[in-house]
Amino acid sequence: MIELIRVSKRFGAETAVDDISLRVEKGELCVLVGTSGCGKSTTLRMINRLIEHSDGEIHLDGQPVRTFREETLRRRIGYAIQSTGLFPHWTVARNIGLVPRLLEWPVTRIQARVEELMNLLGLPQEEFADKYPSQLSGGQAQRVGVARALAADPEILLMDEPFGALDPITRETLQEELRALQARLHKTIVFVTHDMDEALRLADRLVVMHQGRIVQQGRPIDLLRAPADAFVESLLGGEDRGLKEAALLPVSERMRPLRASQGHAQERIAQHASLREALSVMLWRHAERLIVIDEDDRPVGELSLRRLVRARDDE
Ligand SMILES: Nc1ncnc2c1ncn2[C@@H]1O[C@H](COP(=O)(O)OP(=O)(O)OP(=O)(O)O)[C@@H](O)[C@H]1O
Ligand SMILES: [Mg+2]
Repeated sequence: MIELIRVSKRFGAETAVDDISLRVEKGELCVLVGTSGCGKSTTLRMINRLIEHSDGEIHLDGQPVRTFREETLRRRIGYAIQSTGLFPHWTVARNIGLVPRLLEWPVTRIQARVEELMNLLGLPQEEFADKYPSQLSGGQAQRVGVARALAADPEILLMDEPFGALDPITRETLQEELRALQARLHKTIVFVTHDMDEALRLADRLVVMHQGRIVQQGRPIDLLRAPADAFVESLLGGEDRGLKEAALLPVSERMRPLRASQGHAQERIAQHASLREALSVMLWRHAERLIVIDEDDRPVGELSLRRLVRARDDE
């Protein structure tokens, strides 16, 4: 869906993006991480041509992005940013309807779409449609920003720290919503964040950038297990990587069939919970063994601390 081939961007003498190649498949959620100034935002903006690349080629669906008309790019690519970029003198409804209006949709269709998106993002019409951005909390404003990015039903979403500066609970809710949206609507998403837990939770593909270059990309679990160098390792959390990996693996991955004699045990954990959650329950409850249950609360297995800490190699 999106392909960057040996793309560079220079601002005067400075090279902001240096010869990067990247492929994002349709329906994939690709997360860019890296230290400040490494070229993440520049990469996003070259994809929707807010800035032009200096070298290399960018293709959307196999076609050079340079050949797309501005209107087509607007329709096919949604863009959400941390500061939301909402127009302060426009109501929420008007802000969300921006792109459809630019595309000259009929008024009734715009109204219907705005209503649909407000419902989707948990912004009740009666309460929010006529509010102005200054009357919203940061989390509500970011929801409006995401709704606006989705308005013209784009195939591609570019999101630059869209959940930055939110409290952890709102942030987690929005992450789950984004995941659910993507699963349902099969958007292709490129997402920039500084929050490594967010990156690991969301990414199908994780891309680590450093000084304008891509130093490693792949599935989060593969990067955690085999970071390419010390930079990637420390960015992913250094000694914390074990916990981050455990957060990505479900309990069902390590559990064993339940033995009848042990059916009476103790603390329980859902089979789709993460190994990290299981470890937390063990520490919290002083339990070395948990009963694993399915959605209907039926015991389906057991997980012991010994098994949880066992090295991957002896599986
Ligand atoms: N319009 C511009 N003119 C000149 N230099 C720029 C411009 N935009 C970005 N740069 C430079 O390009 C480099 C990459 O910037 P970019 O905004 O892509 O970084 P980033 O990875 O998004 O950083 P952050 O995590 O802080 O948002 C930086 O050194 C920045 O100073
Ligand atoms: Mg940036």
